Amino acid sequence: MQHKSERVNFGSKLGAILAAAGSAVGLGNIWRFPYETGNHGGAAFILIYLGCVIVFGLPIMIAEFTIGRRAKACTGGAYETLAPGTHWKWVGYAGVLTGFLILGYYSVVAGWTLEYVWQAASFGLSGKTSGEYVSMFQDFSQQPFRPLLWLFVFMFVTHFVIVKGVKDGIEKSSKIMMPLLFVLVILLAGCSIMLPGAEKGIKFLLHPDFSKVTPDVFLGAMGQAFFSMSLGMGCLSTYASYFGKETRLGHTAMSVGLIDTCVAVLAGLIIFPAAFSVGIQPDAGPSLIFITLPNVFQQAFANVPFLAYICSVAFYVLLALAALTSTISLHEVSTAFLHEKFHFTRGRAACIVTGGCLLIGVVSSLALGEWSSVKIGGLNMFDALDYLTAKIMLPVCGMFAAVFVGWVLDKSIVKGEVTNYGMLKAPYFPVYLIVLKFVAPIGILAIFINELGLLSW
Ligand code: PFF
Repeated sequence: MQHKSERVNFGSKLGAILAAAGSAVGLGNIWRFPYETGNHGGAAFILIYLGCVIVFGLPIMIAEFTIGRRAKACTGGAYETLAPGTHWKWVGYAGVLTGFLILGYYSVVAGWTLEYVWQAASFGLSGKTSGEYVSMFQDFSQQPFRPLLWLFVFMFVTHFVIVKGVKDGIEKSSKIMMPLLFVLVILLAGCSIMLPGAEKGIKFLLHPDFSKVTPDVFLGAMGQAFFSMSLGMGCLSTYASYFGKETRLGHTAMSVGLIDTCVAVLAGLIIFPAAFSVGIQPDAGPSLIFITLPNVFQQAFANVPFLAYICSVAFYVLLALAALTSTISLHEVSTAFLHEKFHFTRGRAACIVTGGCLLIGVVSSLALGEWSSVKIGGLNMFDALDYLTAKIMLPVCGMFAAVFVGWVLDKSIVKGEVTNYGMLKAPYFPVYLIVLKFVAPIGILAIFINELGLLSW
């Protein structure tokens, strides 16, 4: 692939882990995980989700790291570099397209977080009733202009970091934002489980009810695992192309997987005890965190309004930061592709991506208000994009990444990457290969077939 000699690497192993964790930890953990868990009945969904993380997530993450670091190219070019003259390049291109589509609707929700930072900071979340928080969110998300304004602001901040580049932009911002985020999540989970009536929420999270498990739950959990771990669209393989030789792929994948899962479970511990405590249904959908949290702070600190104020500002700032490290990674996939494949300067490539994503963002945002009657397969355009990308495209591309590393790439190359060219021991290697060759692809296919109703468990 072009531009190899100019390639920048992350400055340190920690920088690489935090950048990858920054991509993984985002709205997927704090916004999407709780509402998917709520929609799919709670603890049973979480158990199946954890199964997907272990069986598909971690092996496919190592596979994507292998592809990226070996090819030293963005995902769009990595397959072409490793399997020249074959159709594998289409998997890379499909990944770029998926990331581009996700960035479009993801930035809409990222924009909502800014509105809530603004509302929280200007006392707009103080002194309201539960019902008022619900109508406040509905009024905001359904009006045409305000969500668009925040969408534009968020995209421009993302654009700015991307133009700063890999080391000064992506790595530096992740090193500051990730630890901050972790501390805030732990503090807020602590506050939430102390609320009166919080036990019901904890039970909902920890007590599985398998009678609620349907094929949809499996598809939802698999899609959530891919989405949350940033898998299937070559985002992590693009980041791995900036990994140095000393970065340990297995160790990095374990760290990222662990951080990602902990933040998701902690987010559940923030949202559900709080939701049950104030009597909000856990299946409220995408609005869940925007209607539950203001309530929590209000009630938890009824006697200390100053603390309620600080916590709500902190939470939405945290959410915006988490979203930012992820939008940066989504943007980087397409920007690196245009830069390396078509020789655009990084600045110009970033402008094209930002422009295109704004367009998708505008459509997705309007789909929740003015254009909500336009449906595709019964879903509005926002939900349709989420369904298509998270539940179909990510698992399909992830499955092909597993097949590629398991079956196509030379075994000595795969072993060389996993062992840092013979410097490390990787006793898990034979099991890893079996998972990539058989378990992950067959498992993913089985979940699709099950969803179509052709399989009975
Ligand atoms: N993993 C991110 C989150 O949980 O919010 C979203 C995401 C980022 C998905 C990058 C896919 C991706 F490639």
